[in-house]
Amino acid sequence: METTLYPMDNAAMPRHEFFRLVGTSIGVILLTRCTAGCSRQGNEDPTPSQKIDFTLRLDDKINENLLVKGGYVVADNIIIAQTKDGKYVAVSAKCTHQGTILTYKSVENQFYCPLHLSRFDTAGKVIVGPATLPLTVYSVDSNFSAGTIRVHN
Ligand code: FES
Repeated sequence: METTLYPMDNAAMPRHEFFRLVGTSIGVILLTRCTAGCSRQGNEDPTPSQKIDFTLRLDDKINENLLVKGGYVVADNIIIAQTKDGKYVAVSAKCTHQGTILTYKSVENQFYCPLHLSRFDTAGKVIVGPATLPLTVYSVDSNFSAGTIRVHN
């Protein structure tokens, strides 16, 4: 991008020059953001390929949603939900399209992306795009006598 300096004794920039500079700057900003956003699309697993193994305490206030059917929590980039049938499921919480944090809709028994509306089943499979890659699925072991839920891979 070229830079034109105007002498201080003639500080007024011609109108057409001002709009040309502003338009070019906005174009560069939009192009940069689009390129960065589009390059991530569907290319990465949002969950690091690392060992996952953590336990949630059901008596912890932050996990109380897991006590009700249809409730869910997000912990360590994993969304854990209790389905309508009372089964616990866990999948990577970031949408495989552009990384938006998913929600769980118990009525459809699906994970839902609020940004571009992709939907995934509880096995992580894409039901509706634009996402094309499945979610990572994790194992869930519930221990009600201990009041805990273990999430691991
Ligand atoms: S971020 Fe685009 S569908 Fe989820």
